[in-house]
Amino acid sequence: MRVIMIGFGSVGKAFGEIVKKSSGLLIKRYRITPKVVAIVDRGGAIINQQGVDLQEAISARLSSGSVAGHRILGHKGTTALTVIDRVEADVLLELTPTNLPDGEPGLTHIESAIKKRLNVITTNKGPLAAAMPSLLELARYQGVHLRFSGTVGGGTPILNFAKECLTGCRIESIEGILNSTTNHVLTRMADAGITLNEALKEAQDAGYTEADPSYDINGLDTASKLVIMSNWIMGRRVSIRDVDIEGISNVSVEDVENAKRSEKAIKLVGLINDSEISVHPRTVPFDNPLCVKGTLNAVAFKTDLAGTITVTGRGAGGTETASAVLRDLIDIKRTLLE
Ligand SMILES: NC(=O)c1ccc[n+]([C@@H]2O[C@H](COP(=O)([O-])OP(=O)(O)OC[C@H]3O[C@@H](n4cnc5c(N)ncnc54)[C@H](OP(=O)(O)O)[C@@H]3O)[C@@H](O)[C@H]2O)c1
Repeated sequence: MRVIMIGFGSVGKAFGEIVKKSSGLLIKRYRITPKVVAIVDRGGAIINQQGVDLQEAISARLSSGSVAGHRILGHKGTTALTVIDRVEADVLLELTPTNLPDGEPGLTHIESAIKKRLNVITTNKGPLAAAMPSLLELARYQGVHLRFSGTVGGGTPILNFAKECLTGCRIESIEGILNSTTNHVLTRMADAGITLNEALKEAQDAGYTEADPSYDINGLDTASKLVIMSNWIMGRRVSIRDVDIEGISNVSVEDVENAKRSEKAIKLVGLINDSEISVHPRTVPFDNPLCVKGTLNAVAFKTDLAGTITVTGRGAGGTETASAVLRDLIDIKRTLLE
């Protein structure tokens, strides 16, 4: 399968490494041979229809700051849209940074690729939060696949679990801890008695958060994941404007201590049920499976037949999230073979 990668940061590079390391297994077990034919970053592109050598792309970035620095195959200043238009491929990986609420530039990349009848895999929540119903409709109309399992839970297969393992059940509600940064910050506030700003600074120094963690703290990141789950799992056409959002910036050490005294923790909880779709700091009892610590995510699906089932795992990480990209790629390949 010929693959174009837009974005070569922690997820993009990890995907490249997985493909290189696991090529034998991918062919043997899944009969899939991903061939990266172009990689684009902000400096330009590296293009080779015979297959880009990922080590050379990494070296070009290291020496010049962009994959476009490659001596022979580099194209300085070439944009993602030009590559989508001109390079022959089967799948586009959209791995650029999340931008909320307008979803750009990822939204335009995804729309353009679908219009060119490319299958699309993205880990970028922005375009989905802004325009998921219309993107799904466009993909259906063009007869291509749009996959995004890495957008919720990193490598933890939360979307796949709900879609594939709860067949026959009605999901009555979804409740989850969906943001690793805020969960880490709230955990440190409770465990070390430090303020939100101190916990955030600590997390930034340790490299757990992005340079600008405002989407995490103000609840927008969790809200965008709720939009994806609502559309994909519950079949409800909503966008980020429909979510009632409150972040954690007003949570004090005192609030956390009070909760602790009654055997509870304050968590940033995303909730979807028949009457609401919301993000709020809420108290969660210590013995509730949702009460996970640190950078873990947890999502509880309340169903009519199977009871409540909670899925837990690491919510982020380049390699973990790249594993979701690979899962989507194998899924698309399987569907194309059917
Ligand atoms: N990392 C995680 O744990 C994780 C987990 C779940 C979801 N995600 C999502 O996955 C996406 C990628 O994450 P990441 O951690 O890999 O991000 P990252 O390390 O910041 O990398 C982003 C890449 O996108 C490139 N880029 C930015 N604007 C571009 C444009 N207009 N055209 C072409 N390339 C452009 C950047 O180019 P330069 O290198 O030139 O700046 C960089 O290579 C994000 O949307 C993120 O929210 C990440």
